[in-house]
Amino acid sequence: MAVVLAVTGCGTGGDPSGNGNGGGTRPPPTWYQEVQPVLARHCLACHADGGLAFSLERYEDAAPLSGPIAETVATGQMPPWPPDETDCEPLADSRTLPAQDVTLLGRWFDADAPLGTPVTETAPPVVPNLPRVDRELDLGVDYVPATAGTDEYRCFILDHGLEDDTDLIGVEVVPGSSMVHHALVFQADPDRAAEAEAHDPEPGWRCFGGPGTGATATDVPDVVAAWAPGTPPTVYPEGTGIPLRSHRVLVIQIHYSLVGGIVPDRTAIRLMLAEERVGRPARLMPIYWLGLVIPPFTGDYGGSSSHNVIAPGRLYGVIPHMHRLGRRIRVDRVRGSERRCVVDIPRWDFHWQQIYFFADAAGMDLEVLDELRIECAFDNPTEETVRWGDGTDDEMCLAYLYVVDGH
Ligand code: HEC
Repeated sequence: MAVVLAVTGCGTGGDPSGNGNGGGTRPPPTWYQEVQPVLARHCLACHADGGLAFSLERYEDAAPLSGPIAETVATGQMPPWPPDETDCEPLADSRTLPAQDVTLLGRWFDADAPLGTPVTETAPPVVPNLPRVDRELDLGVDYVPATAGTDEYRCFILDHGLEDDTDLIGVEVVPGSSMVHHALVFQADPDRAAEAEAHDPEPGWRCFGGPGTGATATDVPDVVAAWAPGTPPTVYPEGTGIPLRSHRVLVIQIHYSLVGGIVPDRTAIRLMLAEERVGRPARLMPIYWLGLVIPPFTGDYGGSSSHNVIAPGRLYGVIPHMHRLGRRIRVDRVRGSERRCVVDIPRWDFHWQQIYFFADAAGMDLEVLDELRIECAFDNPTEETVRWGDGTDDEMCLAYLYVVDGH
């Protein structure tokens, strides 16, 4: 995988200046000249003051951590990027650190984190924005989680107030506090959402893995967006968009992690809407292994399910989804004896869920007789048999495919 390449790059980068002082070799990289710009580009979206993780903005922050920085980038633990693209489609906006930057951070550490010549302006963090925001919807309250536990999963109605069906062409989740660990956005029936809301005295309602609007075990929720910390704003592929139905509401499901303390939250989403209907409306088509039954005390318990493609189309992206027992998930397009990997997440992490688009804007073609195959494995250390469901202790093996019908 990319990580291994990166590590190899570290050892064979042709720069033996391990201690940075070797006579005649390249001088070591310094904070101001090389290191800070790399961190600004690849790390500060999360590692900034008041951000998701401890700050790496200043020399005083980063220098004492030069060892862990070098190590976590060499192993691929940082920046977080769950997909393994080795045998799969290259993905857009990959967070994988280029090999030369891995080498650079390693050399900086080896040379005892030199400061270099101060510059007046350091590189600003690269934090992408939506090109345009047509509507911003927030929770409508400053919500303060009232649970005794360390996690809370809560749904809120976001009423887009659209009078006509309108295509969503971009979306951004703006977390209202550092408690927000990940979020999923669904389209839901307004009556069922209002009912769920009415049953819970606090703002919103408890839900997990889906909108919790009366879903039964076989319901597959209608997802619109998935977000995890550091997920850039999503702009859907050119000419495509997801139709938002005027008679439905959006429901945002937020996972709050409360270990860092409880503060008020008013998370928002920003919508970029098409001025005219898009020529190529997309669906987030679910494929799933609904029949999963995970026996108690099992490790790496896997299974798969195949779905026949019934009309030609193009596949542009995917949101893999499992719950907390998930270990790995993979989606393939199977055409005869040829198997082409759509996405492969070898170490599932519930906290890093998002939509992945292919780097190739043309997407992947789907033909009748192709099969879309989803494969999952779980670790179940509990004494319960675990089945498909919406609950915290239930599981899912689900992927939403961003598909446009026709070629
Ligand atoms: C998408 C968000 C994100 C990005 C981008 C990111 N990190 Fe992190 N990083 C985290 C989170 C979250 C943690 C855990 C924070 C905590 O425990 O407070 C973390 C932890 C770390 C740790 C400590 C690891 C440990 O085992 O304790 C180091 C070192 C680190 N990051 C370095 C980096 C570097 C260097 C970059 C850029 C090359 C980077 N990170 C990019 C989110 C990110």
